[in-house]
Amino acid sequence: MIHIDKALELQQAVEKVRNEGKTIGLVPTMGALHEGHLSLIGRALQQNDTVVVSIFVNPIQFNNKEDLEKYPRTIEADLQLIEQYERDCVDRKAQALYVFTPTVAEMYPQPVTDTYHFGAIEEVMEGPQRPGHFSGVAVVVRRLFDLAQPHRAYFGQKDYQQIAVIRELLRQIKYDIDIVECPIVRADDGLALSSRNARLSAAARQAAPAIYDTLQQAVEMAEYEEVDDVKQWVMETLAAYHQMNPLPDGLCFEPEYFEIVDALTLQPIGQWADASNGAVGCIAVWLDGVRLIDMVRFDETLK
Ligand code: PAF
Repeated sequence: MIHIDKALELQQAVEKVRNEGKTIGLVPTMGALHEGHLSLIGRALQQNDTVVVSIFVNPIQFNNKEDLEKYPRTIEADLQLIEQYERDCVDRKAQALYVFTPTVAEMYPQPVTDTYHFGAIEEVMEGPQRPGHFSGVAVVVRRLFDLAQPHRAYFGQKDYQQIAVIRELLRQIKYDIDIVECPIVRADDGLALSSRNARLSAAARQAAPAIYDTLQQAVEMAEYEEVDDVKQWVMETLAAYHQMNPLPDGLCFEPEYFEIVDALTLQPIGQWADASNGAVGCIAVWLDGVRLIDMVRFDETLK
């Protein structure tokens, strides 16, 4: 593992790799790494000659100051984890792994003036809830693409809408980069791994798997219930969870949205048959002051 914190150093390193005709895989992260990130890094190590992992908490994608301030920053532990993972990873093609940890000034030497618009795909779910978020993601991802010059970039499906936005970004800026979508990694109890999970209290962490349990039940319901009924049931079930289950005083799920959309267009569907590319359910829920997201596919039930 080679640790770099200067943009110029990264550019020089990848230029050499590119000149040798070798492939580069980029894994963009905001740190506080967990098994989900390691699965992306593992996939990138298998498929490329060189891998670049970036760790950068991107301020311009946070629309909530408190969320930015409280976002876990564990850089030393992250570096150790990657180093250990690389050492243990036998099934790999990559000969080099760079970890890029720029400061905000290094990443954005000039004030950021670019904004991106993604039309209908950002008008649903995360878009209205987090104004400016996807534009901020696009700015940093484009900057990382420019610096790391990857052939492939790796993203987790937990941020399902983010992947659609990045595909649209690539279409707009006409970069030829393969987006490799990696499945959600879950804890044994089903909770989708997320850096934000670290901020949950013990009681909230114990309750949190109810999100995925509810989503799985929704998938089963799709066999005999209408789309709107499934959506309403998920929202009501989570909102009423604390009434049916013993939780410490004041702890409850506050579902922000649960939407069922076409897997490609991300447009909400009214009928199961409207999802010509398959149906996906995406959720955002507040628990213990932490915003958690998750998703499930309905494809198998609807076959
Ligand atoms: O998914 C994330 O962690 C971030 O949105 C990303 C892609 C690293 C950009 O900051």
